[in-house]
Parts: sequence; structure tokens; C-alpha cells
Amino acid sequence: MTDSPQVNSLVDDLESAIDPQVLHRLPDIGRLVSLPKTTYTLLSLLVDENTLPSDLEKVLEQDPALAAKVISLSNSAFYSLESPVSSLHRAILVIGFKELEFMAMGLGLSETFDLSQVPAGFDGEGLWLHSLAVSWIARELAAITGVAEASEAMITGLLHELGLIILVSKFPLQFQQLLELVSAGMSFFEAEAALGLKHGAIGFLLARNWNLPEIFQEGILYHHNPEEAPRHQKVAALVALADNLAHKAGFPMKMETLDLDLSFILPTLSLPVEKLQNFIKDLMVTMPRIQPIWIQMMKSAPKPDRGVKARFQSLLGAGKFKASGHP
Ligand SMILES: [Fe+2]
Ligand SMILES: [Fe+2]
Repeated sequence: MTDSPQVNSLVDDLESAIDPQVLHRLPDIGRLVSLPKTTYTLLSLLVDENTLPSDLEKVLEQDPALAAKVISLSNSAFYSLESPVSSLHRAILVIGFKELEFMAMGLGLSETFDLSQVPAGFDGEGLWLHSLAVSWIARELAAITGVAEASEAMITGLLHELGLIILVSKFPLQFQQLLELVSAGMSFFEAEAALGLKHGAIGFLLARNWNLPEIFQEGILYHHNPEEAPRHQKVAALVALADNLAHKAGFPMKMETLDLDLSFILPTLSLPVEKLQNFIKDLMVTMPRIQPIWIQMMKSAPKPDRGVKARFQSLLGAGKFKASGHP
């Protein structure tokens, strides 16, 4: 697909505002970073509505470490079962199909980007938990508003801080400078602009490099300013709201203070304020219950596997995504 002149000029503008040292390494990062094979396969299953639990079982059987993790999670106190689970089949039934896909994707991403070694003063685990929470809430918001496919909302939510993940894991020195400006009193958004490290733009450029669908690219670029999204404003607004609610529900990205213009968001999502209030009440019950199991999941994530070649690009080449509004 050829980009329109507007997209080309947007890309030029964004690139000219990025630190050249970061910009020049992005294509290499795009080429070298790969998702674990299991995550790649799970993403394919997730966007295919004909997928059965038995398909998931077959995928997990190919990944013994992940299968063992799934069984162990199903035995955690969260599910409070009377008898222990010892088979993958029963573990899938206990945890639930959708939630399991979601967890396995989170584990896969945490294998791809190692956030265990992060600059001092930054909470790498917190960034993962935040990404998972936004993904979860975005999926729920998609279900109650109907403005996006659940899988589109979920994947955009999971990737919305892609730029931040890249900065923390691949550019620790530059990120350290950013943290210093923030601790000297500058706001996070001022500091990233001053240093040419705007995380929305960096995530967007990497998503373009991977040929991710435009809907994900826009969701990543505009998650803090959805009103500026030219084509996928509803998904950008949905992720912006999910981002804000994740902060409120105890999964914050602490440096980012979020001011959200609900007078734009709610009409864009056709979401009445009473419905949002009820949604928040439900979240306040659900999220604290989910948090311990996510923390357990992140702490025991497998070691990074750099050898797997599967990437988002291959997934898209296989034509697996059915997200609307793009080829
Ligand atoms: Fe952000
Ligand atoms: Fe966020």
C-alpha cells in the first residue's frame, strides 16, 4: 500500500522531532526484535473467531514451559478450586479461553522485551502490568460500546506504550536522561519532547516498520491525544480512556499524568456517563482480583528467547488480522 501525502508528511514531521541516534536504530530494532513463536500463533488464533479451546491446547502443548505455567496458574489461589489441576485441558477450562490467550500474549511480549534490567528509578514490572491492564480494559470497553472489535482494542491496548517499552529496553542511556529531567521537576511530556524521545511517535514509527495495521499505528501514536487521530479516532479514544481507567484502577504508568477530556471521549464512544460509572464500579471489583495473578505471571515469565524468527510482519503477511478499516 502506498502512503498518502498526508501520512508521508506526518512521518516526516515525527521523524524530524526524534533524537537522530534513536531514529537511526529503529529499523534495526524492527528487524531484530521478534515475538516468540507461541505468541505469534496465539495472535493468529485470537483474531480468528472459529478458534476452539482445543486449538489453544494444541498450541500450548508445543511450548512445555508455557503449558507448565498455565497449569500452575490454574492452581493459584485466584481460582480457589477444591481439587488440584494436573492437565492442560482442565487448566484451560478453569482459566477460560479468552483470558488464557491474553495471558499468553502478555508472557510472549515480556519475553521479547526484557524489562528486568531497566534504568534505576523506573518500574519495569509496573509498565508490563499497566500494558496488560489497558489491554484488558480496552477489550471490555469495546464490548460495552461496540465501537471496535474486541481483538483490535485488546492488541492496541497491549501495544499502546510500545515506544516507552522500546526506550526503556533499547535506549537506557537516553531514558536515564529523561528520568533526570523529570526528577528535576519537568513534566514527562515536556522532557520527552525536549530530548526528542516522544514515546507515541517512537512506537508509531516501529509499528510502521513492522507493517502493523494502521488502526494499531494510530492507537499507539494518539493514545494521549485521540482527538488528533485522522482515521481511527474511536479506537484511539477507547485506548485513551482505558489508559486513564487503568491508572485509576491501580495500574498506573506513574510518570504520565493523564488529563482526559471526557467531553470529547464520551460522545466519540457513544458512552453515556452513567454507563461509564457502572463500568468503573465493576472494574474496581475485578481489577484487584486479577492483579495478584498477573504479578505471579510476570514474575515467572520464561527467559527471553532471541532465536525465534516469527514477527508481527510475518503474521500480517499471512493475512491473519481481520481488523477493520485497513487492508
Ligand atoms: Fe503513554
Ligand atoms: Fe499508558
